[in-house]
Amino acid sequence: MLDGKRILLIIGGGIAAYKSLDLIRRLREGRAQVRCVLTPAAKQFVTPLSVGTLSHERVYDDLFDLTAEHEIGHIRLARECDLVLVAPATADLLAKMALGLANDLASTVLLATDRPIFVAPAMNHVMWANAATQENVAKLAARGIAVLGPDAGELAEGEIGLGRMREPAALAASIAQHLAASAPLAGKRALVTSGPTYEPIDPVRYIANRSSGKQGHAIAVALASLGAETTLVSGPTRLVDPPGCHVVHIETAQEMLAASLASLPADIAVCAAAVADWRPAHAATSKLKKDGSTPHALELAENPDILATLAQNVARPRLVVGFAAETDNLLAHAAAKRVRKGCDWIVANDVSPATGTFGGDANTVHIVDATGTETWAPMSKKDVAARLAARIAKALA
Ligand code: PMT
Repeated sequence: MLDGKRILLIIGGGIAAYKSLDLIRRLREGRAQVRCVLTPAAKQFVTPLSVGTLSHERVYDDLFDLTAEHEIGHIRLARECDLVLVAPATADLLAKMALGLANDLASTVLLATDRPIFVAPAMNHVMWANAATQENVAKLAARGIAVLGPDAGELAEGEIGLGRMREPAALAASIAQHLAASAPLAGKRALVTSGPTYEPIDPVRYIANRSSGKQGHAIAVALASLGAETTLVSGPTRLVDPPGCHVVHIETAQEMLAASLASLPADIAVCAAAVADWRPAHAATSKLKKDGSTPHALELAENPDILATLAQNVARPRLVVGFAAETDNLLAHAAAKRVRKGCDWIVANDVSPATGTFGGDANTVHIVDATGTETWAPMSKKDVAARLAARIAKALA
């Protein structure tokens, strides 16, 4: 759920700032983009060099840094993120936030952002218990700011009490949970088929096609990043399993059908796989040999149509999206396929060799639905996936 999310991490000046380095690592492990702002006091505990090295991003620490202002103003810094996390949030930083001060980069960004804010307080237990801090925290909570912690335990000065910054793993999990719950497809289940199928001729040979799985996998990632609990049923590809998806590996069309049906009920089904329409009717159990006479003729049997089976199922997903891979009469074939297979939308793409659609990184698609056809400009398969996922989320809203 952190995948692709942009997190602005504000590091306050307390001893717990050392934990922010581990926090950056954990957020990045979840594939979030992490931009960091250091308060002047934070620089006494961690250096911009270590923060920049771990975040792989430029570190921001000066409101009046003209170069930074030229490249990215503090207003953009405050808005070009999906959420702001303050960790550690010192008593001083919490007080500034409660008062609405804007006298350094961190406090200015916090005042200028319109994104969800999370704070992870860390301080001495007496400072935490102080009525001033408690009033500040209550004010922030009343404004909708999420307060994560502090936890109880041994503090840096050796005293025991409430004041430890929540552990980075737990903070990263809370952020991921929040993103999942507020995502447009939260609570929805999605099934995506992707890649080719392999139909065995004998134990060493098979019929296959040129699908790389790039388009289908990108759609699974995009649906998962909008919060859908996503099952990706994938034929053999060279791609790594995308994070955040439940991946089922299959080889044949029959296996793909069984895995797809096993993933029901689902709210959304997107069939991007290039399923072999036919399979050898009698796959040999041992390797076929050249015997010097006439070449073997392959008898073919028709494979089940997974898209049509899903679209016409008693447990039909609410939205069924198919693809049409055509080399001629793209839109006419796509419109006919939509009706014949009973799906809601067809994503039509031209797969003539010159287009590079099979295996390439880009695609030009047309969305055919009951109301007509929408043509999208050429774009990367990832962008097609993101735009399709957003269209799906809108349709199910
Ligand atoms: O994998 P890439 O290299 O990224 O390439 C992407 C792609 C070209 C494979 C993809 O964009 C695409 O077009 N996928 C559908 C390929 C296909 O088999 O199209 P079709 O027109 O033959 O089939 C129509 C629809 O029926 C498709 O949704 C297909 O998944 C489905 N189908 C077809 C046959 C079958 N037996 N079962 C099915 O579910």
